[in-house]
Amino acid sequence: HGTSMINDQGHLQIGGCDTTELVQRYGTPLYVMDEQLIRQRCREYVGAFRESGLKFQVAYASKAFCVMAMCRIVEEEGMSLDVVSDGELYTALQAGFPPSRIHFHGNNKTPYEIGMAIDAGIGCFVVDNLVELHMLSAIASEKRQKVRILFRITPGVEAHTHEYISTGQTDSKFGLDLDNGSAYLAIQAAVKLPFIELLGVHSHIGSQIFEVEGFQMAVDKVIGFAAKVRDELNFVFSVINLGGGFGIRYIEGDTPLPVGNYVKAIAESITANFSRYDYPTPEIWIEPGRSIVGDSGTTLYTVGTYKNIPNVRKYVAVDGGMTDNPRPALYQSRYEAMLANRGSETNEELVSIAGKCCESGDMLIWDVMLPEVHTGDVLAVSCTGAYNYAMASNYNRIRRPAVIFVKDGEADVVVERESFKDITGNDRIPVRLKPTTQ
Ligand code: LLP
Repeated sequence: HGTSMINDQGHLQIGGCDTTELVQRYGTPLYVMDEQLIRQRCREYVGAFRESGLKFQVAYASKAFCVMAMCRIVEEEGMSLDVVSDGELYTALQAGFPPSRIHFHGNNKTPYEIGMAIDAGIGCFVVDNLVELHMLSAIASEKRQKVRILFRITPGVEAHTHEYISTGQTDSKFGLDLDNGSAYLAIQAAVKLPFIELLGVHSHIGSQIFEVEGFQMAVDKVIGFAAKVRDELNFVFSVINLGGGFGIRYIEGDTPLPVGNYVKAIAESITANFSRYDYPTPEIWIEPGRSIVGDSGTTLYTVGTYKNIPNVRKYVAVDGGMTDNPRPALYQSRYEAMLANRGSETNEELVSIAGKCCESGDMLIWDVMLPEVHTGDVLAVSCTGAYNYAMASNYNRIRRPAVIFVKDGEADVVVERESFKDITGNDRIPVRLKPTTQ
């Protein structure tokens, strides 16, 4: 997919770059991102919305992969950006991302984060609960700065990847419940606050979703609520944000729709439903993360040791693992892999890919077919662009890998590999501890 192909030497090539050369130049583990594919996904979303004729914003959910170069791409593609912490906000501002296109999410924004975001002049806060509303209102009045907000509501639709539960989502740490009246009360409170400008509501139904039905169900719920708020409180929403969660293909058998189909289905159900209620069509915002960057990423590893346990399995260990990709350990997520240096050879053995952390759960892939693997081979794990670098850790004091963007035969480092200095840089030895004896 994307610009990935096997070249004449039988090497995996991405963005016109031979991955074995990338490995020589940058070392492993290495995150390789296909810039053209990232841009293509951005354009698919934006293009589908343009076609729909609706007013829209596509806000990239930066939690999936938030580095300064990525913020630049999102800006160039004319999109907005969703951040959930001061660190993501800082990254965006450092990258020169226009503050007015930043949306601030999160269920527990600190006063510091709120102040920082107001001072930066961000476009919108997605307010999660009443405590936050009043905290935000107090800080905004103190600063004499009006802030624009959406309320995050729990629409009572929850996607469990392949199915939807349409009741009983009240028990969530996120958002204000629609059915028990909390969302309604919050709106009543917000419209009275002088430094709060309410735009509308936000709903996010889950992640790695393949079907359009969940989004349609959410639209249904939201419009019903919007109509009630208009009729009873005389307040009309100008923005509806439907969150992210559009699925991608990690392994064979995953069946996401083309990005444009989700947008089309959402646009159709918005147009149909709102006109049914004679409601002025609001601006539609969405927040894709995974589906923008997920399939653009490939992680390259060097194979180290391996061992065969007869009649059980062969373990092949690579020089990374749960520190650069915690998803298999955390979510039992599955990935596909190939040997990047032997891409045209036939797969002949079933192996399992282990990481190098001191933990039995540090397995990247259980059961994958590969050519007979040797020490020094380069293993490429695909679809690692989302929630991999973003969730990487220094467990076992392993240094985080470098991230590079490849495009048209050029490679650029967008995150340097961590150094040993990064590992001990924040450590301090209290003076009362005995000095080193060396
Ligand atoms: N908007 C909101 C409010 C969200 O909570 C999320 C994801 C997104 C947008 C973006 O969702 P996406 O399009 O990326 O599915 N670490 C997990 C995923 C956690 C998603 C949390 N919220 C994983 O690795 O699968």
